Amino acid sequence: MARHLITSAIPYINGIKHLGNLVGSQLPADLYARYLRGRGNEVMFICATDEHGTPAELAAKKAGQPVAVFCAEMHEVQADIARRFGLSFDHFGRSSSERNHVLTQHFAGKLEENGHIREVEEKQVYSIDDGRFLPDRYIEGTCPNCGYDKARGDQCENCTKQLDPTDLINPRSAISGSTNLEVRATKHLYLKQRAMRDRIEAWIDSKKDWPILTTSIAKKWLNDGDGLQDRGITRDLDWGIPVKKGDQPWPGMEGKVFYVWFDAPIEYIAATAEGTDAKGQPDSAWRRWWRLDEGAEDVTYTQFMGKDNVPFHTLSFPATIIGSNEPWKLVDYIKSFNYLTYDGGQFSTSQGRGVFMDQALSILPADYWRWWLLSHAPESGDSEFTWDNFQQSVNKDLADVLGNFVSRITKFCRSKFGEVVPEGGTYGPEEEKLIADLGTRLRAYEGYMSHTEIRKAAAELRAIWVLGNEYLQTAAPWSTFKTDPEKAAAQVRLGLNLIRFYAVLSAPFIPFAADAMLAGMQSDNRDWPEDVAASLALLAPGHAFTTPEVLFAKISDEQREEWQERFKGIRD
Ligand code: MF3
Ligand code: ZN
Repeated sequence: MARHLITSAIPYINGIKHLGNLVGSQLPADLYARYLRGRGNEVMFICATDEHGTPAELAAKKAGQPVAVFCAEMHEVQADIARRFGLSFDHFGRSSSERNHVLTQHFAGKLEENGHIREVEEKQVYSIDDGRFLPDRYIEGTCPNCGYDKARGDQCENCTKQLDPTDLINPRSAISGSTNLEVRATKHLYLKQRAMRDRIEAWIDSKKDWPILTTSIAKKWLNDGDGLQDRGITRDLDWGIPVKKGDQPWPGMEGKVFYVWFDAPIEYIAATAEGTDAKGQPDSAWRRWWRLDEGAEDVTYTQFMGKDNVPFHTLSFPATIIGSNEPWKLVDYIKSFNYLTYDGGQFSTSQGRGVFMDQALSILPADYWRWWLLSHAPESGDSEFTWDNFQQSVNKDLADVLGNFVSRITKFCRSKFGEVVPEGGTYGPEEEKLIADLGTRLRAYEGYMSHTEIRKAAAELRAIWVLGNEYLQTAAPWSTFKTDPEKAAAQVRLGLNLIRFYAVLSAPFIPFAADAMLAGMQSDNRDWPEDVAASLALLAPGHAFTTPEVLFAKISDEQREEWQERFKGIRD
């Protein structure tokens, strides 16, 4: 049994994610985890909420809650939505956990011990009335470019010009509105990534099979301009992981926290420990996934993320791991994604444009979304969500092909043979051809799934469903029955077995429908069909079933129009 560690980029805590976020990391990671489990591998699938940094602080402020309370509540909200989407995390952790505090401080201590940290003095805006330094986005003022009076210290939302806080006219604190600001010197820790450049490059170069999207982004950052830059890993904020060297204080760093992007990927490790803690297991239970000296030598580690996350996972996090000089597991394969656009534009949280995860589930079950998103995953370029395309995919693939197959065969059997697998008859050349064709396509499907070629895998799965429909169409047991009821019995038996077979193969994409199909077939046999013929004989004559309810309802034109209107956003 092979062991697979799978992580999805951890979503920011600040709000509910949209479908573009979902398809860029958590959903494909879930597909892969479910597939590998289905093939009998031991899987550890980890995700978490990313709870530090200014976005978390700002969102809490907007919600009028203390940030710790906000994060605790929003974590539960996100965990619940993830569960309803069928995301099968082995643990959904929190980057603010005690485990992550300890591990992050541990890594920083090791990096310092090994000479990978330097102190840098910077100038930063300090708000005297707020008693704190202000991150760029906490400073507001008038844009020197367009005159917009709510421009932020990092960027003007109105004209999109990138700004420096000192560019703003009449700067004020976004927290209190105070204009009592001054520039003060502050010290920060920098990770000396530059000096590790060659080791990181050699490691990236050793990954011959990585997707082009992943390596091209990594290479760009390694080589562009001045090449890999040292990176500040601390911030003057209250909310975050206090800067310490292991469990010792760090002189001069009192009151500072680690930068969110330093502690977030460490949470992959911490979340694994949070998960085994929750099960009351000893430390060895998580360390065997992460420590090469404690069992992780034979783990295959795959990460999933959107393309904007690639630099942090190909350069910064590896620099943390490599610089620690400890035997931690590095990632083996990074699957990255382009963006999903929404109906000709961007998804926008602030404008309420596009479909967010909770809204999606309030209009249709998870599998409809899972199927569309995965079969249109933005792998080789951006993909676009349109309601037309969504309607077509659901109606054709799910309702007409798969749903219709299940309903026709079960209803026909019920009417002629009752709700049991009929006996009698034998398979002829048509059945043998079907079994052979299924075998060929199944092996192709497995190949795509194990290489995370998601769209190709979806197309292959659909083709496998189509084979069953075509068979049913030509075999036409409803006609056969009139002249040769024995033969019709064999055809129906094959059809009923195909339902279980489809459930097992399709479960990674549409787990809820797969459960309903298995429940209908009154089977809990989820064994992967290593041998197609044997797998299609599992439901023996006399085995009782129940005719399932409609698996997939079609989307009507009225629904499509209504939803298109509802999610178009407050402005264009
Ligand atoms: N929260 C980040 C985002 O949504 C992803 C963090 S991934 C990890 O873009 F590396 F930090 F874990
Ligand atoms: Zn402007």
